[in-house]
Formats: sequence, C-alpha cells, structure tokens
Amino acid sequence: MTTVRDVREQAGSTPITMLTAYDATTAAVANEAGIDVVLVGDSMGNTDLGYDSTLKVTVDDVASRTAAVARGADDALVVADMPFLSFGVDETASIENCGRMVKEADADAVKLESGEHTVELTERLVQLGIPVMAHLGLTPQRMKETGYARQGTTRDEGHRILDLARKHEEAGAFCLVLEHVPSNLAEQVTEALTIPTIGIGAGPHCDGQVLVVDDVVGLSTYSPPFSKQYGDLREQMLEAVSAYREDVESGAFPAEEHGHVADELDDLY
Ligand code: KIV
Ligand code: NA
Repeated sequence: MTTVRDVREQAGSTPITMLTAYDATTAAVANEAGIDVVLVGDSMGNTDLGYDSTLKVTVDDVASRTAAVARGADDALVVADMPFLSFGVDETASIENCGRMVKEADADAVKLESGEHTVELTERLVQLGIPVMAHLGLTPQRMKETGYARQGTTRDEGHRILDLARKHEEAGAFCLVLEHVPSNLAEQVTEALTIPTIGIGAGPHCDGQVLVVDDVVGLSTYSPPFSKQYGDLREQMLEAVSAYREDVESGAFPAEEHGHVADELDDLY
C-alpha cells in the first residue's frame, strides 16, 4: 500500500510514476504495472464522458469513478481530482466535497487545481486529515480564461508559480503537479521545494511524471504534443468490434461451442 508519506519521501530518488484511470479495470492494470499513483483525473470529462472540457464534470462523477478505481488498485495511491467549483467557493462545501472522496470513495488524497484561493483550504484539509496534491501551471478548469496555452513563460509568471508552489508546500500539500510549463521553470520549482513535483508537459527535471491513460494506450482521438503514445488500443478495439459484427452478420458467431442444448427440450411441439 502506497501512502502519501511514501510519495513525499520519493522526492529526489526514484522517479514517481502517475497515470490517470477512471475505472476499476484500468486501475488494476496500472496497479499491476507498478504505477505509484493513480489519478482519477477530471480529464474523464474529455475522455470517458465525451465533453470537450473538464468543466461539466461533477463531484458525483469523480466520487463514483474514484470508488471504482480504489476497488481496482490495491497498492497504488488513489488521488481524486476535485472538479470545477467543487472547492474554493465556500469552505464548508469544499471540505464536504473533498471529504466525500476519502470517506465514501476510498481516495487516499485529493488534488486541487491551485491558486491563491487554495492556500488556506489546503492547510485546513491537511489539518483535518485529507492529504492534498497541489496543481500549478496550466490548470484546465481555468480554460475560459487561459485556453490551453503554456503557462509560466514570463519572469513575472515564473515568480508567481514559484511563490504559489512554496505557499502550498508550507500549507501542507504532499506533492505538486506542474502542467505545461517550461522545463527550466519546473527545474527551479523542483529545486526550491522539498515535496516532490510531478510534471506533465513540464520537462525531465520533476520528481515524477503523469500522463492521461487514454493518450498512453492510444485510445484518444486527440493527444497533446507533450504526451507519448505507447499502445494502439483504439485500432485494436476497432478491429475486434468490427470482426465481431462481421461474424454475427455472416453467421460465423455463435458457433456450436458458444451455446448449449438441453435434450429434454427437444420436441416441445
Ligand atoms: O485530470 C487530469 O488528468 C490531470 C492530470 C493531467 C494532471 O489533472
Ligand atoms: Na485534472
């Protein structure tokens, strides 16, 4: 069983491996492959739920998927990604929503897309026993404002991200995701913090890496340029499903061995 303490202590040693999963089967595969952290990302909006952003993902969506992932992943740390406006508006509601992920859905931690508005909340959640993974750089819940552009490209923005990273470490976050920022910024943030950084589109200097599983296994119709595809599952699924359809239409499936006969049912009329 991986704990947030294990992950925190991995800073600067073996790279931390994190992958998204949204169901028990995929979580079990990630777990068997030795992935350290399974993130139930709100990227499920783009992948499994078929939206064109993460904004419509609900607390119920993430809670139900987190419970499934927790049933599938025995060893990996399970992190529930808090959806748009489920935190940071009202403290009580934020704590209840985050608490649900741990109490009901068996998450080991929550991830919050971070900013000035999550510093105190992070501290409060950690005090209450809910571990927090912070997330800076590109935060897709702010896409109406930022689009999906690279973040932290100016000195001002770089200082802002470094400052927020320090504030979240001080507030008690056990880990920080850095998304789509220049690698030399990610490198300096990684050096400045004692908690581990996990990068996506943030270069090789972070303490770990995260990717969206659909991009890794080749299920996505669109993947960002910073991801890497290791499999071709969409093509394989298409072949399998098409072959099944053709077999049914041609009568090749089901064959004798796919069914059974009860002798006493002969001559019913
Ligand atoms: O939702 C997600 O998959 C994420 C990762 C890309 C960090 O937030
Ligand atoms: Na996310």
